[in-house]
Amino acid sequence: MSGSSDDKNLRPGTRVTRAGRQAEWTGPVVNPPVWRASTHLYESEAQRKAATGSNEDGEFFYGRRGAPTQWALAKALTEIEPGAFGTVLYPSGVAAIAGALLAVLRPGDTLLMSDNSYDPSRSMATGLLKRMGIAHAFFDPLDLPAFEKVVAQHSPRAVWFENPGSLTMDVCDIPALARIARQAGSVTLIDNTWASALGFPALAHGCDITMQSLSKHVGGHSDLMMGSASAGERWYKALRLTSQQLGQVVSPDDAALAARGLRTMAVRLRQSTQSALEIAEWLREQPQVAQVMCPMLPGSQGHELWKRDFTGGCGLFSFVLKSSDPDASGKFVDALELFGIGYSWGGFESLALPIFPHQHRNVMASPTAASGGGTRPAVRLSIGLEEPGDLIADLKRALSQLDNS
Ligand SMILES: Cc1ncc(COP(=O)(O)O)c(C=O)c1O
Repeated sequence: MSGSSDDKNLRPGTRVTRAGRQAEWTGPVVNPPVWRASTHLYESEAQRKAATGSNEDGEFFYGRRGAPTQWALAKALTEIEPGAFGTVLYPSGVAAIAGALLAVLRPGDTLLMSDNSYDPSRSMATGLLKRMGIAHAFFDPLDLPAFEKVVAQHSPRAVWFENPGSLTMDVCDIPALARIARQAGSVTLIDNTWASALGFPALAHGCDITMQSLSKHVGGHSDLMMGSASAGERWYKALRLTSQQLGQVVSPDDAALAARGLRTMAVRLRQSTQSALEIAEWLREQPQVAQVMCPMLPGSQGHELWKRDFTGGCGLFSFVLKSSDPDASGKFVDALELFGIGYSWGGFESLALPIFPHQHRNVMASPTAASGGGTRPAVRLSIGLEEPGDLIADLKRALSQLDNS
């Protein structure tokens, strides 16, 4: 059976194993086949004319509008996102950020962006959008009264959130922030890559458009680049139109890989969340560690909001070292053996990345100021599917080398 309306009553972990199946598109198979095609042939001129008039997934037109492999993935992502009418796929997460912002903003508009946002999102505001005559201002997502003021001051067309900040790990009150923004007539967008739809139902919590990098949890195997944006009917149509105008399309091979990743995403996330929590708890006890920023960790900034609003976590969190040596985080990651040093996250393999305060204006400005985090070296970990005991042994070895450096 393909996904049906009854599936809405199933738990998310079950739904990801079924979502997106549509036998008319893909045939009676478990996984959508890789449907490689630029040209779609019509049986007659009358059929070509009919197809040209409409513009929906499920209707063959030309490869740039996708084919069953991409349609099945977009449908699956829509089915697991409460409140979504449709999903647009993009060739990367950054392309999804650009596509979503360009679908909403026009010259003369103002964008408000939370100051814990991922660097390329910030560069989009300060570079591309600025060149197009779109103004921007950053705000502290942890300060609701200040946010109210900044909204009143700027009357923004759109507000961009990231929750938690993917470096700072600060969790903010999205339902409250979105309410303030919507009351002012702003469109609310969120980078929901950390939690995905399984961990944070962003549209249900008041956002108009939810974006994620599928290169992370959905792909899950560090072998593909892709992004998505999902929304209710009005904004889905705007996203689709803008993406088509920009000529964006994802390859069917990558779409098939992402669809395969989706099937195991719930169980991978559950495991990496549990391992991350175990490792975060251990790290907090280490004498070389000043602070651990992990939403799932009791006592960590935002843990109460995480418990209230989220239905899951993931393996990504950060911690601050006590060392005053600015090179300490670099030395630490060099000393690790099981963790790779690399960008991206959400794969089955664990990664470590130094974070330097100068890289990110707000890194640890508010949540960790109390610990002196803003001036100390920090590290971001992406916990994968290795045994947590082995990862802890590796971290222990690397921390002990810091003592001797
Ligand atoms: C929070 C966040 N959003 C978006 C992206 C961009 O995704 P992609 O690498 O697929 O372009 C990343 C990538 O690291 C990210 O960390």
